[in-house]
Amino acid sequence: MATSIYQCLTRITAAITENKDFLTELDREIGDADHGLNMARGFAAVLEKVPQEEPDFGVVLKKVGMTLLSTVGGASGPLYGTAYMEAAKVAAGKTEITADLFDEMLGAAIAGIERRGKAVRGEKTMLDALIPAKDAFAEKVAKGASFVEALDAACAAAEEGVAFTKTIAATKGRAAYLGERSIGHQDPGATSATLMLESIRDYVKG
Ligand SMILES: Nc1ncnc2c1ncn2[C@@H]1O[C@H](COP(=O)(O)OP(=O)(O)OP(=O)(O)O)[C@@H](O)[C@H]1O
Ligand SMILES: [Mg+2]
Repeated sequence: MATSIYQCLTRITAAITENKDFLTELDREIGDADHGLNMARGFAAVLEKVPQEEPDFGVVLKKVGMTLLSTVGGASGPLYGTAYMEAAKVAAGKTEITADLFDEMLGAAIAGIERRGKAVRGEKTMLDALIPAKDAFAEKVAKGASFVEALDAACAAAEEGVAFTKTIAATKGRAAYLGERSIGHQDPGATSATLMLESIRDYVKG
C-alpha cells in the first residue's frame, strides 16, 4: 500500500491532542498530572520538525524519536523516544509498510522500552499494552490475516492490556510510589500507547 508516514503521524498527533486532558487526568490519579500535556507538546513538535516529503521511514522515525526525547520530558519522553528510534533502525531505507515490517518495528520498539525502562510486562506501564498487541499482531499474521485484521487484533489486545493495568500495582515510574494504592487506576502510558496503535490502524484502514 502507498503510505504517507507523515499522514500517519498527523493521525497520532490528533488522537493524543484530543485525549490530552484524559491522559493528564489519568496521570493525576497515579502520577504528577503531566502525561497528556507532555505527549501533546511532543507530537506538536514532531509535526513541525519531521520533513513532510521524506519517504524513508527510518529517517522520519529517527527524527520522531529524537524530537520526543527532547520535548516530552518525564519518563515517557526517553521511553517513547527510544521506541521510535529503535523502530527507525529496522525501518531504515523502507518506504512502504508491510505486516512483517510493522511486526519487526513493534518488536524493536518494545525491546527499546524494556531496556531503557528496565521494565517487563506486568509492571503497569506502556509495555502492558504494547506486548500483548505485538503478540496478537504476530499471531494473526502467522494465520494469514491481512495487515488491517492484524492491526485490529493488536488494538483489541492493547485495550485489554489497558484494562489489565487497572488490576495491578505499579512497580515502575512515579506510580510505583503509590504501590497497592495504584490498583484501580489505568496506566496513562499504556493508554497513550493504545491511542498510537489505534491511530495507525485507522490510518491504514483509510
Ligand atoms: N521504567 C518504566 N518503564 C516503562 N514505562 C514506564 C516506566 N516508568 C514510567 N513508565 C510509563 O510512563 C508513564 C508516565 O509518563 P509521564 O510522561 O507522566 O512521566 P512521569 O512519570 O511524569 O515522569 P517523571 O516522574 O520522571 O517526571 C507511565 O504511565 C508508564 O506507562
Ligand atoms: Mg507524569
